[in-house]
Amino acid sequence: MDHGSFPGVRPRRLRTTPAMRRMVAETRLDPAELILPAFVREGVSEPVPIASMPGVVQHTRDTLRKAAAEAVAAGVGGIMLFGVPEDAKKDAVGTPGTDPDGILQVALRDVRAEVGDDLVIMSDLCLDEHTDHGHCGVLDADGRVDNDATLERYAQMARAQADAGAHTVGPSGMMDGQVRVVREALDDAGHQDVSILAYTAKYSSAFYGPFREAVGSSLQGDRKTYQQDPANAREALRELALDVAEGADMVMVKPALPYLDILRQIADASQVPVAAYQISGEYAMVEAAAANGWIERDRAIMETLTSVRRAGADMILTYWASEVAGWLRGGR
Ligand code: PBG
Repeated sequence: MDHGSFPGVRPRRLRTTPAMRRMVAETRLDPAELILPAFVREGVSEPVPIASMPGVVQHTRDTLRKAAAEAVAAGVGGIMLFGVPEDAKKDAVGTPGTDPDGILQVALRDVRAEVGDDLVIMSDLCLDEHTDHGHCGVLDADGRVDNDATLERYAQMARAQADAGAHTVGPSGMMDGQVRVVREALDDAGHQDVSILAYTAKYSSAFYGPFREAVGSSLQGDRKTYQQDPANAREALRELALDVAEGADMVMVKPALPYLDILRQIADASQVPVAAYQISGEYAMVEAAAANGWIERDRAIMETLTSVRRAGADMILTYWASEVAGWLRGGR
């Protein structure tokens, strides 16, 4: 240090040019690891914009098919479907969720017919989109979500979704034992090859706000008796152990950005692929700030996705999937 050559160690050398930075980048994004969540609404002839998620719509059956085809063209890896039944069809047990003619099952058949096996077709396996009270399960006489009665409905949903063409089902209701009953129901129905993406560490988050608009949810109250408390990390690892033991093929952490520490811990402990869900509120925050000129939209999007990947996600569910896949193909 006394030769006048301080600093002799210069990390900035590896940041000098775009080519150098690209070469030494530790984390890369690939369209194949992106999964597009998509909403399809029953009984509409035009897509319905979701005000709190600018750029995202409730699709018609037709526009959903187009969105799926676009995702394939962009090289996206998968699509996660959410059905929005007509209000009049929702009831206490979420009948549209198991009806072969329920909107989610119809959409699964549509998308499977459109893209075949070129995209991993996934379906949200949860009752909240289908119940009139908006909870993820059925209620007992005291109005509490009844875990074991809900499991029976999830088993029926799993079968309905697999029959309709889902490659992967995504139980997202955080009921105890849900992965086991879904696996058994699939196997009993001859769907041994249908995989389970378990919502393993799903937190009770304020950032789901825009999603409630996206699915026209009527939820009063909250989901704190079944979704995890944001204060807790350890129970995420407990949920991981349970889900894998019950037969999860892939596991998920959700939301993504406020839970990067959880994602890292799960990624380090998991022997199955790990997904992260960049949820509606994460999307809305970036879009709203960008619309105000407060942040650079595209850079912010890439930074969030890179961070989620860096924290350990093998796959990312993001409403920007097709757009970002297009950027990546263009060399960004
Ligand atoms: C439950 C479900 C939710 C989301 C995905 N699956 C809502 C919730 O748990 O309240 C949220 C997705 C998002 O916010 O983007 N069916």
